[in-house]
Amino acid sequence: MAERLRAFPDTIRLLTKERAPARLDPMNEHVTVNIAAARPTLPDSQTVTSVRHWTDRLFSFRVTRPASLRFRSGEFVMIGLMGEPDPKTGKAKPLLRAYSIASPAWDDELEFYSIKVPDGPLTSRLQHIQPGDEIILRPKPVGTLVHDALLPGKRLWFFATGTGIAPFASLIREPQTFEDYNEIILCHTCRDVAELEYGRELVEHVKTDEMMQELLGDALKKLRYFPTTTREPSARMGRITDLLRSGELFSELGVMPISPQTDRAMVCGSMGLNTDMKAILEGLGLREGANSDPAEYVVEKAFVG
Ligand code: A2P
Repeated sequence: MAERLRAFPDTIRLLTKERAPARLDPMNEHVTVNIAAARPTLPDSQTVTSVRHWTDRLFSFRVTRPASLRFRSGEFVMIGLMGEPDPKTGKAKPLLRAYSIASPAWDDELEFYSIKVPDGPLTSRLQHIQPGDEIILRPKPVGTLVHDALLPGKRLWFFATGTGIAPFASLIREPQTFEDYNEIILCHTCRDVAELEYGRELVEHVKTDEMMQELLGDALKKLRYFPTTTREPSARMGRITDLLRSGELFSELGVMPISPQTDRAMVCGSMGLNTDMKAILEGLGLREGANSDPAEYVVEKAFVG
């Protein structure tokens, strides 16, 4: 079942019982690796099982999941690599950053979606990981983009820019999302069309995957997808914040405007998006919630290296 449940991108093949070298298929970038034979050497280490480069700025990867790790879909963990040794002491310290887990809580692996910052201390190196490599993963999940931080509602909005879609990649594969709401609308704004591809494929996968169909059936129709670009011409252009303020978002989707009685929202993106969305949502009468005090919307910044 776990094998069948493993969601997009399904890239792992256990090759042999002996350690086999990682292989990259240049046509589809699907990678194979013998994870059974990988030997951990770092503290809290996990083994990379697949890597996919979406653009020269974006990549996603999957790693083995610690047997003891429990998390709620939407949470984040600290992950990273060993830093360079200190020239004085010769000792190296872990270089860790917060990353939203992009896979759902039921998945037997963990997926992450990352930007590549050319001079970023972590992502300048992390972008070169290969299947079979190890990363450090501190198994202490936290975060506010969780169902527990919202009061019950009828319609759930996910507002993301760039890699801020990662926690929602988890939540749109989480059955509770479909059980708790009548309608789920994923809004994703990126600079160009290529940067939307991770989300586009993900939504397509969720809607057509056999296991998701079996689990959720017609409930999958509750999920709607609203992608926009800001710098490259596409079918829908503009920042989601502008489309919200003008009301175009609602007229394009053919839905009623957001109200605190029916709507709940989760926001994840740049500081600018978060600040602007807070003002818009508060203006519409929604209050910010937290794990300890659930309300109508929650915000988390998208983490970058
Ligand atoms: P824009 O091209 O107008 O800056 P980035 O790749 O820099 O993280 O940005 C991702 C997307 O988020 C871009 O399309 C960008 O639009 C958009 N964006 C940046 N700031 C805001 C904001 N305050 N509100 C809404 N969208 C934003």
